[in-house]
Amino acid sequence: MVVQSSSTRVWTAADERARDVEQQMTDDERFSLLVSVMGTNHVVVERDARIPEGTSMSAGYVPGVPRLGVPAQQSSDASLGITNPGYREGDTATALPAAIALGASFNPALAREAGAMLGREARSRGFNIQLAGGVNLARDPRNGRNFEYLSEDPLVSAALAAESINGIQSQGVISTIKHYSLNCNETNRHWLDAVIDPAAHRESDLLAFEIAIERSQPGSVMTGYNKINGDYAGGNGVLMQDVLKDTWGYPGWVMSDWGGTPGWEAALKGLDQESGLQLDVMMWKQVWFTDKLRAAYAEGKLPKERLSDMVRRMLRSMFAVGVDSWGPAPEVDMAAHHQISLETARQGIVLLKNDGALPLATDTTASIAVIGGHAQVGVATGCGSSAVLPPGGYAEVIKIGGPGVMGVGRNLFLMPSSPVVELKKLLPHAQVEFDPGQSPAEAALMARRSDIAIVFGIKVESEGFDSPDLSLPWGQDAVIEAVAAANPNTIVVLETGNAISMPWRDKVKAIVEAWYPGQAGGQAIAEVLAGTVNPSGRLPVTFPADLSQTPRPDLPGLGSAWGTATTINYDEGAEVGYRWMARTGAKPLFAFGYGLSYTSFTHGDFRATGGETVTATVTVTNNGARAGADVPQLYLMQAAGDNRMRLLGFERVELSPGESRSVTLTADPRLLARYDGQAGNWHIAGGTYHVALGRAADDLESTAAVTLNEQRFGR
Ligand code: BGC
Repeated sequence: MVVQSSSTRVWTAADERARDVEQQMTDDERFSLLVSVMGTNHVVVERDARIPEGTSMSAGYVPGVPRLGVPAQQSSDASLGITNPGYREGDTATALPAAIALGASFNPALAREAGAMLGREARSRGFNIQLAGGVNLARDPRNGRNFEYLSEDPLVSAALAAESINGIQSQGVISTIKHYSLNCNETNRHWLDAVIDPAAHRESDLLAFEIAIERSQPGSVMTGYNKINGDYAGGNGVLMQDVLKDTWGYPGWVMSDWGGTPGWEAALKGLDQESGLQLDVMMWKQVWFTDKLRAAYAEGKLPKERLSDMVRRMLRSMFAVGVDSWGPAPEVDMAAHHQISLETARQGIVLLKNDGALPLATDTTASIAVIGGHAQVGVATGCGSSAVLPPGGYAEVIKIGGPGVMGVGRNLFLMPSSPVVELKKLLPHAQVEFDPGQSPAEAALMARRSDIAIVFGIKVESEGFDSPDLSLPWGQDAVIEAVAAANPNTIVVLETGNAISMPWRDKVKAIVEAWYPGQAGGQAIAEVLAGTVNPSGRLPVTFPADLSQTPRPDLPGLGSAWGTATTINYDEGAEVGYRWMARTGAKPLFAFGYGLSYTSFTHGDFRATGGETVTATVTVTNNGARAGADVPQLYLMQAAGDNRMRLLGFERVELSPGESRSVTLTADPRLLARYDGQAGNWHIAGGTYHVALGRAADDLESTAAVTLNEQRFGR
């Protein structure tokens, strides 16, 4: 119920109740809500006294105030399944594919389903906060956490993150949105200053946050570890106070990342909660929001109104999402959840190349050499706080290791869904053999005597690490080269969390990007290879030909020792990914939005209108022989004389053979505008706007010119 409104903020019944409850609190109770403590794990060995015996371990625990009906906060990671470093030891949960695979589905409805699954599994374990909603843009293909993020585009990222958050919160579990903002590289992330033009920031990463927050009202925003324009995210007044709270009217609370509170003064800059305080002890040798903040309060440096505001923000999110009024835990149907993971993997797989090698016929009697990638065991996944232990456990864990605090958790975690086993099921008459791909010469032996060779290329990405380059590790590029030289029918399947370079691209017949496909990934890969599933994923990130095409061929600080201060100038501003390619005229290896199908689609009757915004319609027809899904994409190409590429709209359309559907795409006006930092609003220059409909950012088929009215709007 809306009880009062102002220009930037809608006051709800949850606000009223939060105010009422907060007023009844003692200062001790207020302060008790301002820090979260970690459960035990490999970093934290002692149970914090604030966590009652018998409470399941969580990423963050905050005591409740039972006398006022305020439950304890128990938070869990993250977007790919229920997990956290302590909890993972004791239980398993449905492991979804990487978020970048969900991004590749271009399917917000699927994101919602997966989010609701996360909400149910979180709630059934007593977790009422899900540390999900990773929406940072994939600016750099070396970033070790891109697999946890959705895409390089603000609209795709926002649309999918919002539905994932809506799904989680539909189950009465608060979701975060994170990591606010520009946590786009992992290299020395605690000492990284991400420098960007503030207006360009509004048109890119912040726009993803802005749209996602509008569409889903996440209960909390988690800050990043890095600095932005000189100030740590967790102490950044421009981002937390000016932009998030004052300009966007965000009513929820801001929590730091774990160990990401730079000082008690962060409370004056908009930070409401210090998270994972044991990591602050490790990072800063301090806990800030306990004694230090209390001292500041006693000295009048932290105003009483601000203390109340911090607490009210938390309470209003708890009441708005309903974590205080849980009934019995929902029934969790793990078989149904497995299907959601499988469906996400299917829709996320991108067919990058197909010179007629795929699909394999299900009745084939061919001899097939499956090579490398531990495909006889399972599928790869990423590492860090988001890594999920699937039901039954990992098929295998191979230690990788590395420097720094994240090195200990860097492993090749193999999910228990073996592509070899699944292929044998789907191709019962084929002779499927496996070679580990440990040497090019050995792999070539089997490839040479087989009708078809399927080589797996895997690359483990991890929180805490950036890749030095875009190659496949462990000599796999050489194995693929040798197999392709030995067998003309070579198919490559990739399990990676990022774009990779493909020196062998022209020598193989087909390339399939499966990302980290989760606990049902082997099945989804086999289905796409066999053709029982028609691939429909589209690249949510650009695959550059090489790093020289990216804004930063050399990554500042790469390889420097832990603790080295690093500055990354994000000089590309809002021209991220395909926008950068359009700006520079470079031809990528595979473009954003690209992906093949086993059927074909035509786009007809393209029409666009202008005025306040751009609205376009197109008729999509499946003119092939199989059911399949297309993703028509509407791009801005030129805005009143300014060459500027922006994805304005997209829709995933499932069509039977011969079926047609009319699709209408309407642009969010902010995608047509520039952010005017001086005036503090969005500006659409009046004039002619050129838009194009395409299958990918480099494959545009119909264009139209529309006239837009001059407008200023928003803040
Ligand atoms: C990560 C967060 C995560 C938190 C709690 C941090 O290392 O950056 O994304 O939610 O740990 O596990």
